[in-house]
Amino acid sequence: MNINGIINGFSKMSKEEKLKLVAGFFESPEKVLKELKSYWHQDPKKQTLFDEFSENTLSNFYFPFGIAPNFMINGKSYMVPMVIEESSVIAAASSSAKFWAERGGFHAEVVSSTKLGQVHFIWKGDPAKLERAMPEIKNELISGTKTITSNMEKRGGGILDVQLIRMDDRIENYFQFRVSFETVDSMGANFINSVLEEFARIFREYLVKSPLFQNDEKDCEIIMSILSNYTPDCLVRTYVECDINDLQVGDDEISQEKFVWKFQKAIEIAREDEYRAATHNKGIFNGIDAIALATGNDFRAIEAGAHTFACRDGKYRSLTDLTLDNNVFHYELKVPLAVGTVGGLTSLHPMARFSLEMLGNPSARDLMMIAASAGLANNFGAVKSLVTKGIQVGHMKMHLFNILNFYAATQEEKLKALEYFKNQKVSFKSVTDFINAHRSHALGLKS
Ligand code: MEV
Repeated sequence: MNINGIINGFSKMSKEEKLKLVAGFFESPEKVLKELKSYWHQDPKKQTLFDEFSENTLSNFYFPFGIAPNFMINGKSYMVPMVIEESSVIAAASSSAKFWAERGGFHAEVVSSTKLGQVHFIWKGDPAKLERAMPEIKNELISGTKTITSNMEKRGGGILDVQLIRMDDRIENYFQFRVSFETVDSMGANFINSVLEEFARIFREYLVKSPLFQNDEKDCEIIMSILSNYTPDCLVRTYVECDINDLQVGDDEISQEKFVWKFQKAIEIAREDEYRAATHNKGIFNGIDAIALATGNDFRAIEAGAHTFACRDGKYRSLTDLTLDNNVFHYELKVPLAVGTVGGLTSLHPMARFSLEMLGNPSARDLMMIAASAGLANNFGAVKSLVTKGIQVGHMKMHLFNILNFYAATQEEKLKALEYFKNQKVSFKSVTDFINAHRSHALGLKS
């Protein structure tokens, strides 16, 4: 593919024109066109819906949609929908969910549900004066945005507080309004950003009309108004616990005492070593992101907030904690999760709607608890495997299937390969050799 120069006006082209242009860069444009179109939804209305989620859409990109059954959360059973391309994640979530369902399940609670936004501005004046004016400014900002907030208020949400944050010691003349919100069941990004942009306008007007401020003080440069994805006060906590004697992990090669000891060490390591912490937390997000995707939530926002939370004491650490007091194995995850169950893609994407229905149409708070529990399940499953048989055993079966699919293996070939690789190491080469040998043998039989 060879693209020379700038492509002008791409966004203005029709979908068909864009497809033709892109396909034209390939050796066989017709083949590319056919391939891209083969992923279009058969219902044109649904395809238009997908097209309009973003821009310059050519086709759809398939990801597997799967289910992890047996999640018991606060005494209620869930089948958890997960969208993920990585093998073994759904298997790990399902097996952990069942393991803990037999031991009381997950115990989850929403600690807080406050979301945040900021108006960042440069202002040249006496900070003490601005601080003194804050009660009046706050009043102006809140009353001036009633048209935007009244609906949210009817649903039990709205603006909770507006604080002036001084940062002029770090950046000359830099201040911000840090605004806290309750957005109930919506993730609230549009609501928060609309309020913040209006705040910026009202504040500029206030400075001009207020007799408190003179000369330069009447002027203010708004740098930006935007929500913050760091939401340490939109926090959910979930834990599992059982007597350590009930931790039979089903691996004959390791005693229950040794398992608990190794698990504890793994958690200590993830707390102290950021290289391990990143991977440990990645295992948590295998579960959380898969649910975020399945329910139409913004997984990048969730990750950004949670990774920031993971460094809240200045060092990146794991998000889980283990205690073993009085012989009770108590494993806990605390994570900020700003999710929604109404609005945005959650209501528009047919599969997101289906996922939410499958979860019993949860509130945002319920979804926080479900996603956190899936995160803990995935992480527990990963660490359990890591300190016992290792993760490659489980991964290799899926890896085998991926390689077999690469060779478009038939069902019969897959069954034979499964049998053969029970006692053989899976690698791209070993599977290639197996397929070649199997196919030439089959050819030999035919001729
Ligand atoms: C792989 O997706 C996730 C793990 O690496 C997590 C972990 O190491 O804890 C297995």
